[in-house]
Amino acid sequence: RSLRLVGQHAQKQQCREMSSSIGGPQRKVTILGAAGGIGQPLGLLMKLNPLVTHLSLYDIGGTPGVAADLSHINTPAEVAGFAGDADLGKALEGSDIVIIPAGVPRKPGMTRDDLFNINAGIVKALATAIAQHCPEAIVNMISNPVNSTVPIAAEVFKKAGTYDPRKLFGVTTLDVVRARTFYAAKQGLNVKDVDVPVVGGHAGVTILPLFSQATPKKPLEGEKLDALTKRTQDGGTEVVKAKDGKGSATLSMAYAGALFAEACLKGLNGQKGIVECTYVQSSIIPELPFFSSKVRLGTNGVEEILGLGEINEYEQKALEALKGELSASIQKGVDFVHQSW
Ligand code: NAI
Repeated sequence: RSLRLVGQHAQKQQCREMSSSIGGPQRKVTILGAAGGIGQPLGLLMKLNPLVTHLSLYDIGGTPGVAADLSHINTPAEVAGFAGDADLGKALEGSDIVIIPAGVPRKPGMTRDDLFNINAGIVKALATAIAQHCPEAIVNMISNPVNSTVPIAAEVFKKAGTYDPRKLFGVTTLDVVRARTFYAAKQGLNVKDVDVPVVGGHAGVTILPLFSQATPKKPLEGEKLDALTKRTQDGGTEVVKAKDGKGSATLSMAYAGALFAEACLKGLNGQKGIVECTYVQSSIIPELPFFSSKVRLGTNGVEEILGLGEINEYEQKALEALKGELSASIQKGVDFVHQSW
């Protein structure tokens, strides 16, 4: 009897999910780099998301297989796979959200900036195609170095006359996910209850977790604070070392990318009170044209960029210290587009 009840419960749950998807707006999510280490688990998570009605998977190769595999999962999202340049337009057409984890990941000893030369060109080409085929889509940039790839996409969109700063996001959610996990463990808290805003950028010292605003609040200072800040900043490097030459964070990144894409979908669908930390065009730090902070999401992407709130002396110092590197990374992205046009 209990097995039958479990079955009935699962069926009801599935019906609920299907009706929310069928009853809700049609939403097409496209992943560029969908056959990669991040792209595959991210595709899985988006296939499981009831807000997604169409899932488009693009890569230079391998996507027909990934798409066939995911398409057998009995959730409503229709899956289509596209491979190679000639198919890129079809993959993008009609997209509401384009998520970009295309490019090469780090190997031990590399910084995110070391990826610049390869990934900058890939992002430029993909942004050019987005401007042509789905200029109104929301773009979630995962490809590193995010501090530069977001300005690259912005410059490409400006040149194409399609730039809407409300719709271009650097995905920094993994920094928030890590800060929550590490803070909860260190403070003996239930991770489900924890939140930690992370601002700045997405590389080394430009990642600034605001532990003074962490909730639930528990005193944190001195060496313990230093260690948590550093571990959050170096979380990516911790994974790169552990994978020993086989890439960087993929599973936790897919989780973080799915969280952020879902927040964008909820905003698009008119749900209120959706706030996420993300790297966007911003004026809250006048000398940094792109900056990550809490952003309220709405039907057109960014609805409001929220300020930093009250930060303590430790965080103020770290904020001053990150400005030089972040500013240089932004400029490097802008220069790349101008020099290579
Ligand atoms: P991967 O090498 O496993 O996958 C990348 C995929 O991109 C491959 O399937 C490749 O064929 C594809 N690709 C290459 N050029 C392409 C093009 N022109 N169009 C479409 N697809 C193309 O790498 P992984 O581990 O999935 O990482 C991808 C990117 O995400 C890297 O740049 C990495 O640094 C970044 N990343 C970002 C994080 C963040 O927090 N924002 C965290 C972890 C990684």
